[in-house]
Amino acid sequence: MPAFIESYHKEVNCMPKTTTPTSHPFKQLLGYAKPFSRLFIGVIVLVVVYNLTQVIQPYLVKIAIDRYLLKKNALLSPLIQIGMMYLGITLVGLFSNLYQTRVIASAGQKIVRQIRLDLFSHIESLAMDYFETHDTGRLITNVASDTTRISQFFTQFLLSVIRDGLTIILVMGAMLFLNWKLGLLSALVIPIIIAISAVFRPRLHKIYDTTRSRQSRLIGFIAENLSGMRITQLFHQESKQLGALNQLNLPYQEANITEFRWDVFFNRTLDLLGNLAVAFMAWIGGIAVFHHFIQIGVLYAFISYIQQFFEPINSLTQNWNTLQSSMISFERVSQVLATSSTLPEPKIPSPVEQPRVFRRIRGQIDFDQVSFGYKPDQLILKGITMHIAPGQFIGIAGESGAGKSTLINLLARFYDANRGSIRIDGIDIRTMRQEDLHRLVGVVQQDVSIYSGTIADNVRLFRPQISQQQIVSACQLTGADRFIHRLRHDYDTWLTPQGSNLSAGERQLLAFARIVLLNPKVLVLDEATANLDALTEAAVQQGLMEVAKNRTTIVIAHRLSTLRHAAMIYLLDQGRIVEQGTHKELMEHKGYYHAMIQNAAVMPGSESAWQDTGLESSKMSAT
Ligand SMILES: Nc1ncnc2c1ncn2[C@@H]1O[C@H](COP(=O)(O)OP(=O)(O)OP(=O)(O)O)[C@@H](O)[C@H]1O
Ligand SMILES: [Mg+2]
Repeated sequence: MPAFIESYHKEVNCMPKTTTPTSHPFKQLLGYAKPFSRLFIGVIVLVVVYNLTQVIQPYLVKIAIDRYLLKKNALLSPLIQIGMMYLGITLVGLFSNLYQTRVIASAGQKIVRQIRLDLFSHIESLAMDYFETHDTGRLITNVASDTTRISQFFTQFLLSVIRDGLTIILVMGAMLFLNWKLGLLSALVIPIIIAISAVFRPRLHKIYDTTRSRQSRLIGFIAENLSGMRITQLFHQESKQLGALNQLNLPYQEANITEFRWDVFFNRTLDLLGNLAVAFMAWIGGIAVFHHFIQIGVLYAFISYIQQFFEPINSLTQNWNTLQSSMISFERVSQVLATSSTLPEPKIPSPVEQPRVFRRIRGQIDFDQVSFGYKPDQLILKGITMHIAPGQFIGIAGESGAGKSTLINLLARFYDANRGSIRIDGIDIRTMRQEDLHRLVGVVQQDVSIYSGTIADNVRLFRPQISQQQIVSACQLTGADRFIHRLRHDYDTWLTPQGSNLSAGERQLLAFARIVLLNPKVLVLDEATANLDALTEAAVQQGLMEVAKNRTTIVIAHRLSTLRHAAMIYLLDQGRIVEQGTHKELMEHKGYYHAMIQNAAVMPGSESAWQDTGLESSKMSAT
């Protein structure tokens, strides 16, 4: 896990790390809010204060009207007193309203940051097959926009439930206190509101779900296209891709419009109900005032209360929409959190976890009858058996698609073998923690991932304990140092995510420097030198020889001369080892390997260029 995420975890470690995927999303969400329960209690207190101020205001006006204004020879001083009280109460209400919003917004953002961290670190822990079968667009939407919607659950919905729920109770109480008959009559609207909500609810839920899924599809398409823009432009597919985007854009637009239309329909229905209630109250209350059943001040207060009553109802129903959309977002996030496509971590601690044992690992590798397929019914590797002695230099060759990289994917445990086992120093890799395994086995691949950051950051790769001096030494050792010095800002040169301001060979050199710092017991180079020109490759080989000393090294190469000095070369064909031996033995055998060398020799520049570099006389030799 990258260091910056780790530091976040430390900072907010008071919060639960993961949720229980089996419980209801609503409960899970509240689980995230638990560490903030004190803040929420504070908010409730502020809300009570605010609501009391709201309820007292019409009552003060009622007193002013009935006791003083309607009397002959009304005195001014009690009216001034009431006015001052009104002002004071308004100010208290204003501040408590301001603070409740601030407190809850900050708690909401903290909670959502934690959810985002949990989600991202869970995604990081998922096995490779998850990314091959799931849409990245959906994952981006999950991490970016779904989490934002979830934050609205806290900042809008929860606040609304507390505030508006309390307002309704207080206003209802005040109405019953003023005149219980009129109060009960007003309460008739509550079941009507519940019935209207029940009618709208399933429809709205479905609409929100549709919008969210269409949004993820659109984002996925955009993300995929941005990373493949070069291909789009090279093949002049711009207008076609634009058309394809519109195919997704249009349904998304329609879904948004539908969502908006239903939202408005629902809210206006409630508005209408509210206005009808006020009209009804004015009519009934007017008759009551006319017949002197109630005073005019009471009617004023009642009409104010009924309006106040519908404000929280309106806000609640609007936030009820927020609840729906954040629940949908949370369901989508929980689905990802509940996925356990992670390769199982060992239940019992492996001896490798002890630093003493770890240090003593010598790097002996055994593949025992390993079979594997990305799809269970389509085996890519079939009964692979290899025994590699500690510190040995091993070559693997074979045509494209033979399964060479797949073999490495299994050794690094991106996937688990379907049958057979892989052991390092006799310890099955499935019994090791991934963390330990990846410190033991370092892989350099042909396509190097570059992250936004400086050259130094990219070599350091989220490990702050690595010093600048170590970075420079590693780059000197692998020869990366030379091209870095040609860059304008040296080690501080900023790299773009795709590393597009570096050549493929330069990216490769950075990858070598990374591996030097990782210092693994087993070094795997998968077509790692293919992007380098012959001269650079020779230089890198010199450096790597230093790195390869005392460690098991597995080199996969199409350029067979790279493997010439290997202690053993394995020839892979359609997932099986078809030949094995040293270069000399295999040449004498005149089989598959011999034929490959012969074919390569007729290809201009391939083998001969290599031999000119003087690597022939280099120290690279089998141990
Ligand atoms: N993630 C994957 N999901 C499904 N099939 C895959 C996956 N990766 C590779 N394959 C298939 O497995 C087979 C072996 O692929 P692999 O990458 O191991 O070949 P390779 O020997 O490394 O080839 P190359 O020399 O071109 O790198 C190929 O037929 C490929 O289509
Ligand atoms: Mg490969």
